[in-house]
Amino acid sequence: MRKVTRAVFPVAGLGTRFLPATKAMPKELLPIIDKPIIQYAVEEAIAAGITDLVFITGRTKRAIEDHFDRNLELEAALEAKGKDDILELVRGIIPSGVNCVFIRQPEALGLGHAVLCAAPVVGNEPFAVLLADDFMTGDVLPTEALCDAYAERGRSVISVSEVPGSEVSKYGIISTSGTVGGLMEVTGIIEKPALSDAPSNLASVGRYVFGAEIFDVLRGQRPGFGGEIQLADAINTLAERGDVLAQRLTGRRYDCGSKFGYLEAIVDAALEHDEYAERFRGLMKDRLVP
Ligand code: UTP
Repeated sequence: MRKVTRAVFPVAGLGTRFLPATKAMPKELLPIIDKPIIQYAVEEAIAAGITDLVFITGRTKRAIEDHFDRNLELEAALEAKGKDDILELVRGIIPSGVNCVFIRQPEALGLGHAVLCAAPVVGNEPFAVLLADDFMTGDVLPTEALCDAYAERGRSVISVSEVPGSEVSKYGIISTSGTVGGLMEVTGIIEKPALSDAPSNLASVGRYVFGAEIFDVLRGQRPGFGGEIQLADAINTLAERGDVLAQRLTGRRYDCGSKFGYLEAIVDAALEHDEYAERFRGLMKDRLVP
């Protein structure tokens, strides 16, 4: 089976939930302490063996290009000051052998449309999609698990996670039939269903590996929920053909597209921080215990 070496990062959304912070700044550069959330997703992809990173960007997203580009002036200044460890950290953002490609999505026509914008670069290869908003932690991160599953099964694989009934209407919810080798056979996916219409409580979360056939599906697709070209609709078409598997997340997921999820991610990162964990625990106790 073919190894997955390409990953698509759709980052062209408007990020309205974080306004005014995201008026001129991409929400993907919001940091968890000192590292932007998009960098975590990029590191997850690289750890899974991805070597070509394709960013689908939009207006106000230029800073993402700068973040993943060399900054020779900064590097020279750090070198002159002898700040070697920070210099190494800055240079290592994109390791050698990894390529970045930036494609503009001219209009935010939906996540499916954003993924389709990557077709000229991805070509006929399988590829991962990572939504940086979903910040993942755990021993095995989902992109690696999905790439392994694709290499073994040769079918598109998506990450899913159980969500409470009160949240099913925020997600694409899957229906399944049997299982193969620990993966679920997906028979369909409904975007943001009412609880009464939801076929399960298994929600598709922001990690996927697709075969290139999804591009043909997206090309022929009409706007769906919210008038947007929905990725979920394309997954549904593939699922009806029996071409999609689902894998449960094993680690933790933080919805950093929402303010509360972002807060949770920062608090948990602080509680495990190499330098600040102890002080931060002390601070929390101090604030919370009367
Ligand atoms: P969201 O639904 O989170 O939308 O998009 P958003 O615009 O980023 O944020 P809010 O809801 O206004 O706060 C899910 C993912 O799809 C990408 C976004 O960048 C995000 O990673 N996306 C969405 C695109 O790249 N293009 C689109 O046309 C729509």
